[in-house]
Amino acid sequence: MKTGTVVVADDLQPNIDLLRRILTSDGYAVHAATDGAEALALTLKESPDVVVTDVMMPGMTGFELCRHIKENKATRLIPVVMVTGLAHTRERIEGINAGADDFLTKPINAQELQARVRSLVRLKRFTDELDSAESVILSLALTVEARDPYTGGHCARMASYASLFGEALGLPEDEVAALSRGGYLHDVGKVGVPDAVLLKPGRLTEDEFALIRQHTIIGDRLCGDLKLLRLVKPIVRSHHERLDGTGYPDGLRGDAIPLLAQIMAIVDVYDALTTDRPYRAALTVEASLAELEGEVRRGWYRSDLFDEFVKLCHSGQLRDRTRRRSDTPGDS
Ligand SMILES: [Fe+2]
Repeated sequence: MKTGTVVVADDLQPNIDLLRRILTSDGYAVHAATDGAEALALTLKESPDVVVTDVMMPGMTGFELCRHIKENKATRLIPVVMVTGLAHTRERIEGINAGADDFLTKPINAQELQARVRSLVRLKRFTDELDSAESVILSLALTVEARDPYTGGHCARMASYASLFGEALGLPEDEVAALSRGGYLHDVGKVGVPDAVLLKPGRLTEDEFALIRQHTIIGDRLCGDLKLLRLVKPIVRSHHERLDGTGYPDGLRGDAIPLLAQIMAIVDVYDALTTDRPYRAALTVEASLAELEGEVRRGWYRSDLFDEFVKLCHSGQLRDRTRRRSDTPGDS
């Protein structure tokens, strides 16, 4: 039984034969390339667990290959092992700069190669699991959205609005990325709210509203301890809090409400107002901003954040982004 897939790149056939022999004896499926470009194409096609590459090859070198792999979102988590000459410190430094995960010295020692590849495959499995844990939560969020015909496209719009807002506020890259993920995931906890309540056309009873409020706590729990969602979790839990303490689930006040959750709250209200609902048609941008301003005056949201959001709306960027998104085939 194969234990994983490895792409090997070397311009000398005897070296390829050696690598292939060592790795297949350990149960790996091996795909070989004799130059960097071919290795890159194989990596994109086979999505291997590890890439083992020589440094000097005609055309694309091992460094360039590594750089391409690490720059592409689809392949950047694939570990790359560079095979270098014994005394070539410069090659190692350049390899590190190119993003290489590990090095092997020529002549190749079979046991060393097997041990390195084995541990990198383990690491790759671990990162794959992290990725798929996040994608399970994401598909849950999209399932929630699909249940409610009136919120079609809400998640994608929220991700786009919130990340643009974060960029406009000058937030660091990881927080902007969290706002984008949070746009998709903020309501994931609604998966735990029954259809009869979530889709009820009329007024909700106090008990039913209490059930709706639970979506923040359920969502928070679903995010669990996933490292990737460290900055997203507070958005999921606190996007219905209000500055004056009248929000839910914790009744947080002022700065106790995480900033990213405050940003998401403004964007959430804006999107609700600017889209059709069963009980009213979508409001215009100006009418929606006027409504939001009323809520700011009531003490629910920070006025400086609101002012920035108004600027962003007037810049036309939000509209441009949604237009581009809805123009993309298959993206609704
Ligand atoms: Fe929500």
